[in-house]
Amino acid sequence: MNVLGIETSCDDTAAAIITDGTSIRSNIVASQSDMHKKYGGIIPEIASREHLTSLIPVVNEALNKAEMTHRDIDAIAVTYGPGLAGSLLIGVNSAKGLSMAWDKPLIGINHLEGHIYSAWLEGLEPDSNAGFPIVCLIASGGHTDLILMKDHLEYELLGKTRDDAAGEAFDKAARVLGLGFPGGPEIQKMSEKAQDEINPLPRPQIKNSLDFSFSGLKTALVRRAESDGFYPAVDDKGPSVYQTTEYSFAFQEAIVDCLIRNTKQAVLETNSKAVILGGGVAANSRLRKRMNEVIDIPVFVPRAPLCTDNGAMIGAAAFFNLKNGFPLQLDMDAVPNLRIGLTAE
Ligand code: KG4
Ligand code: ZN
Repeated sequence: MNVLGIETSCDDTAAAIITDGTSIRSNIVASQSDMHKKYGGIIPEIASREHLTSLIPVVNEALNKAEMTHRDIDAIAVTYGPGLAGSLLIGVNSAKGLSMAWDKPLIGINHLEGHIYSAWLEGLEPDSNAGFPIVCLIASGGHTDLILMKDHLEYELLGKTRDDAAGEAFDKAARVLGLGFPGGPEIQKMSEKAQDEINPLPRPQIKNSLDFSFSGLKTALVRRAESDGFYPAVDDKGPSVYQTTEYSFAFQEAIVDCLIRNTKQAVLETNSKAVILGGGVAANSRLRKRMNEVIDIPVFVPRAPLCTDNGAMIGAAAFFNLKNGFPLQLDMDAVPNLRIGLTAE
């Protein structure tokens, strides 16, 4: 079964062709980050306008790269939430149009479920060779969720961020440190040059909960930057290279520790058989390395381009939904605040 997966929930316009939920025939992503860079964050209006102009060319490129035409496609899958309302609408409405024009079934996919199914593009067997349950940590610019996957398509939300998402925290810290957008990759790059964690930042923890909180960590960084006299930057004079590298490392260590601490606790509490990482923050090399060191069950971390937003994960998730008789939806709408799984009582 060949599925065209379409993803436009944030600032990446993406389309991919996936065969049987596990094999990538093509995976095209048109990133808008250069457009948003000069504003230091994502501007929703710009994002939707870019999706509108890029989506059909990206879909055509995905078909060309897979050496297919629309006749080879069995179904169209599109992210319908969570995400930016305007961005989601472009994807959903374009997918509806293609579904009608090509006479193909249409299925709406939860973006978070897509991130989870990236792991099946990276060697997890269709029936899960590791076994269920699986703890999934999805950390990106918009969400930081710990999800228990009890079986295919069966989820329970174990924890979430109470304030900033992990990626958002990286992006805000990068701004304080005078680094570019998106902040995560910049902070990772600077961290690699740091000697040691000489100035540790706090690891916020919420008692008796698997929830996260990152806004206090950002405030702690701002306070240090103020007392060191480089923030707010005066006369364009920001932190020294030494301060940038040391604080980048301290900030990255604090976030990585919080993410690993709660993931480890979730594994213990649920007796899980494996861990899946996903979302843009899972592209962080320090998190990937440390998670593998600390967790003693298999950890599935997709390659970085499959951690950040892409259409392949939507095509993969669609296959497993279609296999399980998920209803098709030509009348679906974008749901910007869509959640995954129910919170345990
Ligand atoms: O999943 P994603 O591409 O889009 C959203 O759904 O948000 O994630 C983007 C986020 C940004 O906040 C970015 O700073 C962060 O992921 N990110 C990283 C890295 N690469 C991207 N954070 C830490 N380390 C990285 N290497
Ligand atoms: Zn995402």
